[in-house]
Amino acid sequence: MNLRDKNLYYVGGIVRDELLNKQSFDIDLTYVGNAIDFARNIKDAKILQINEPFGTVKIELDGEEIDIASTRDETYPQKGHLPQIKNIGCPLKEDVLRRDFTINAMAKSTQTGEIIDYAGGLKDIKTKTLRVLHDNSFIDDPTRIVRCLKFAIRFGFEPDEHTKQLQEEYLNNVNYDMSYKRLQKELKETFSLNSQIAFNKFVKNNIYKLLTPKTFNLPDINFEELINKYKPHNIWIIYAGQIPEIEKLPLTKDEKQIVEDYHNLQQKKYNSDYEIYKNFDGVKLESIIMYAGINYSVVINYLENLKKIKLQITGKDIQNLGINPSSKYQECFDFILRKKITNTKLTKQDELNLAKDFFKKSQSNGVCKNK
Ligand code: CTP
Repeated sequence: MNLRDKNLYYVGGIVRDELLNKQSFDIDLTYVGNAIDFARNIKDAKILQINEPFGTVKIELDGEEIDIASTRDETYPQKGHLPQIKNIGCPLKEDVLRRDFTINAMAKSTQTGEIIDYAGGLKDIKTKTLRVLHDNSFIDDPTRIVRCLKFAIRFGFEPDEHTKQLQEEYLNNVNYDMSYKRLQKELKETFSLNSQIAFNKFVKNNIYKLLTPKTFNLPDINFEELINKYKPHNIWIIYAGQIPEIEKLPLTKDEKQIVEDYHNLQQKKYNSDYEIYKNFDGVKLESIIMYAGINYSVVINYLENLKKIKLQITGKDIQNLGINPSSKYQECFDFILRKKITNTKLTKQDELNLAKDFFKKSQSNGVCKNK
């Protein structure tokens, strides 16, 4: 990025990530003053988007898309919801000191490269410490409690004692009137890291209380290992979906289904391999891994043994035996499946013979008289 100006600064995550030698995914630029007016005067820049009330602008310059924000202060008249913007064009110091942690409150001049550190972020980077900037930080924005966990796991940092205490105080007195969309974003980013340590801390430190006042007991199994072994597509929901009242979050249709199927698996008792097979077959891997926290051995039995069992004969094969399609087909498949679960070595010919036996018996019982 070649944009340089004495009033233009990199801020937040990008400064932190550069100091930590980590790759940053988005570039946050802040202009001390009005970023929209500034952007209009950049030679060869194309304005792509303007958000007047927020004082932000997106431009295209030399084929690159760049977001620039105006320095601003924020207040939280409705705690736990989106802040209200005020003082667009305020001094840089005010802008950075409204943020979550000292390590996210540093700025770097685009002109000189100088690091501006009003809150002691450099020292906290050295000591691997997560420290809030003021005592109301979690009350204003409780999603910062999850961000604290996310950064702790991502960088191997620890919150300082005071930050821990403020977190604990908030979790003893959660305001459930909050933006669940923002909470979901942070939970998703945290649990997508696939860390059992993150889940342990999330439960043991009562961070899950952000979602529910109910009690949740940490299952005594390692989800991280199961996820690494079976490679489900949607990782975050495996962790978060176990928490009571997760439905408060604006989950996708797919994620809702995963949570619902996990609850359904809990409604039943499994007395045989056949029952396990019938109830788990067709259920998404995510729900099955979640259920490992309830009954580990059932899940391992299914994933390691039963899941591989597939009948080789199809409806077409039964039709070729001269039997017209009917609801009896399903009964026949179930009959063969029960046999195959106890003897996985059955060949397709064995299955065909079993189908013949099944329909012969049905016919002699006078139930199936198709041909
Ligand atoms: N911020 C904050 N409180 C929040 C979210 C963000 O104070 N609840 C501030 C932080 O200064 C943060 C910046 O806004 O650095 C940008 O937010 P975001 O892009 O969400 O965070 P990053 O720090 O860039 O983290 P990530 O690398 O996970 O994107």
